Amino acid sequence: MQVEDIKVALIGLGYVGLPLAVEFGKKRPVLGFDINQKRIAELQGGQDHTLEVSDEELAEASHLSFSADPAELAKANTFIVTVPTPIDEYKRPDLTPLVKASETIGKILKKGDIVIYESTVYPGATEEDCVPVLEKFSGLKYNVDFFAGYSPERINPGDKAHRVSTIKKVTSGSTPEIAEVVDALYREIIVAGTHKAASIRVAEAAKVIENTQRDVNIALINELALIFNKMGIDTQAVLEAAGTKWNFLPFRPGLVGGHCIGVDPYYLTHKAQSLGYHPEIILAGRRLNDSMGTYVVAELVKAMTKKDIQVQGAKVLVMGLTFKENCPDLRNTRVVDILKELDEYSMDVDVYDPWVDAQEAQHEYGVTPVKEVAPGVYDAIVLAVSHQQFVEMGAQGIRALGKPEHVLYDLKYVLSADEADVRL
Ligand SMILES: NC(=O)c1ccc[n+]([C@@H]2O[C@H](COP(=O)([O-])OP(=O)(O)OC[C@H]3O[C@@H](n4cnc5c(N)ncnc54)[C@H](O)[C@@H]3O)[C@@H](O)[C@H]2O)c1
Repeated sequence: MQVEDIKVALIGLGYVGLPLAVEFGKKRPVLGFDINQKRIAELQGGQDHTLEVSDEELAEASHLSFSADPAELAKANTFIVTVPTPIDEYKRPDLTPLVKASETIGKILKKGDIVIYESTVYPGATEEDCVPVLEKFSGLKYNVDFFAGYSPERINPGDKAHRVSTIKKVTSGSTPEIAEVVDALYREIIVAGTHKAASIRVAEAAKVIENTQRDVNIALINELALIFNKMGIDTQAVLEAAGTKWNFLPFRPGLVGGHCIGVDPYYLTHKAQSLGYHPEIILAGRRLNDSMGTYVVAELVKAMTKKDIQVQGAKVLVMGLTFKENCPDLRNTRVVDILKELDEYSMDVDVYDPWVDAQEAQHEYGVTPVKEVAPGVYDAIVLAVSHQQFVEMGAQGIRALGKPEHVLYDLKYVLSADEADVRL
């Protein structure tokens, strides 16, 4: 297939799929498909609730159409799959959405078609888990009748500087010729350029280690924060000093949530374990990062006790519920670990997050965020997410919400060391 013959369909229009569909839709006809009818209706109405794509950008993608009807996919010959790759309650990869999407494509797959996966997986998932489903449902043979590619996504929700087209993209294909077609397709929209990986497995491995490396690095800094807190040394001051060396990496301590960094390492460790290798560093990092919510509340309780503030029944304000700043993404937010722990101490907690959809917070976590916060109410305030609104409030604005005697815990270094009572 030549790149000019390609007719693209995007499968899964979430944080990753929609921005990509929009970029292609500025240049060529693209069908955006999702099983979520509500999502399709919203996009057909010209709006994106994830806020990754503005109404104007959506309107600019004049060649982009949307459908929840799988029969429509038959008009395409190149399928880009951007469905979720979550973990289950035992932290095992859950490939159900990938398998289901592969079934849908398999049913309409034709000779010569290409299926490109973008979802984050472990090395081997495309060819060992997805391709057999495509073969089964199409009756076609891999690398004879149809082909595959893998091109991982690197976008960062809420980040308006690093957009799909301005992030260098890794591409790959199931044969050298297909790798070139896949690469040429992405070159059309990626102004930052592409990197053609040696194989699909290499591209899969590259993506999963990007997030694993971040996770382990943050775990190291979290561990350092625990040590320095015991020593009464301000961690941020240490990081600022160490950061003056040219090769010191600028990581910060904190909760590690979201759909990627706290999840993807488990894809790699799962695969490693299936091969008889039990990863130590990666899983140690995961354990440490997952324990930060408990640690934060223990520190908060110590600080409250020092100020003679009654812990049981204390009125606590948690500012921010999303997994990161300036976006409405609630997936795998570890702020809920803090809420659970506060509940263990029978504290009375209000959650305030101007970015969050209250219904979604209720549905996902049973949390109903307050719409407004009144001054002078709280015994403790936990600044959990550094949304722009909170940064603008400053120490004075935030402290005004507390009772005359309260504890202010800044998890995100929004405030300076002397402005907060406790910092991570
Ligand atoms: N969000 C990120 O920052 C990010 C960054 C890089 C990579 N990734 C990876 O990209 C993939 C997608 O993530 P996301 O954040 O866009 O997920 P998302 O949950 O925002 O979107 C996924 C979409 O896929 C749809 N979907 C699910 N099953 C489907 C099916 N069988 N057929 C068609 N549509 C289906 C859902 O309805 C949803 O709209 C994941 O593997 C993720 O790890 C995400």
